[in-house]
Amino acid sequence: MTGLSAALAMANDATPDVGDDHAQILEGLGARQKWISPKYFYDERGSELFDAICRLPEYYPTRVELALMNRHIGEIAHLVGPRASVIEFGAGSNLKVRKLLDGLDQPAAYVPVEISADYLVKQADELARDYPHVHVQPVFADFTRPFDLPAHPVTPERNLIFFPGSTIGNFARPQAADLLEVMKLEACASGALLIGVDLRKNPAILHAAYNDSQGVTAAFNLNVLRRLNRELGANFALEQFRHEAIYDENEGRIEMRLVSTLAQTVAIAGERIVFGEGEHIITEYSHKYSVEEFIVLAEGAGFTTEKTWVDENALFSIHFLAVA
Ligand SMILES: C[S@@+](CC[C@H](N)C(=O)[O-])C[C@H]1O[C@@H](n2cnc3c(N)ncnc32)[C@H](O)[C@@H]1O
Repeated sequence: MTGLSAALAMANDATPDVGDDHAQILEGLGARQKWISPKYFYDERGSELFDAICRLPEYYPTRVELALMNRHIGEIAHLVGPRASVIEFGAGSNLKVRKLLDGLDQPAAYVPVEISADYLVKQADELARDYPHVHVQPVFADFTRPFDLPAHPVTPERNLIFFPGSTIGNFARPQAADLLEVMKLEACASGALLIGVDLRKNPAILHAAYNDSQGVTAAFNLNVLRRLNRELGANFALEQFRHEAIYDENEGRIEMRLVSTLAQTVAIAGERIVFGEGEHIITEYSHKYSVEEFIVLAEGAGFTTEKTWVDENALFSIHFLAVA
């Protein structure tokens, strides 16, 4: 067993439980408003498709967040201080963490916490190879539940929770507050949080970002049905569902859906799920915040704002927050 595989095998209360996951999927598909948690997007193909989304011209969040990090990395490094342990919630593509590790003063450790196990190992392996002085210790866990942090050979000066990509937006506001509390716990008393948050903006920009012309977001959305076919023996006919993403201005969120194009019945894990023509499954929310709204949320969860950076077009924000 390699060091990384051994790390992944580490017993952890938050290790995803397949039985719980399947029960949650059946609960969501049996509800009056059908839903599937976005965490199921990320099998290996889903993670690759998400990376492809990040490279799309319409998908401004990655481009703008990286540009903000590039511009302010000196200040970020100064605020974080030396020998930090970087704990990333939802590792995904490692472009952003490379930028961070390159800029920080002697980072001691990197702990990606991820639910997509294959992808986690691959990404962590690459980082361990490229950053031999950083102790890379992947954790296979559901980050919405408190998990044990691994011990490091060198004691870090402080924990920095890194949560880029506006993944916080996938949670409804009360659950986002709960997740910030988990982050505060994992950061510990002297810790900090560096978080990317997508901003409220002109709906046309949002619509283009979530309905790209190459159909990559549609493929990403539909891939969750392929996963259910493979892992739960379901018989979703992918061509009988279509991707839709709408912006609800009152709620300040993108709602991503899979719409049944006809009346049909789908079998899954011994259950039958009936769809009317035009009925949809909600697969993801992506909440947008104003800077002030996010600061109120984070401070309510026990953080103090030390610095916020916003791009010149007010598309995206990055916040540096310390545990209060
Ligand atoms: C929207 S992507 C963001 C990836 C990356 N941080 C970025 O900024 O590009 C979300 C990532 O979080 C992971 N993820 C989603 N829900 C999770 C959960 N509950 N626990 C652990 N990882 C999760 C996904 O597998 C995916 O890699």
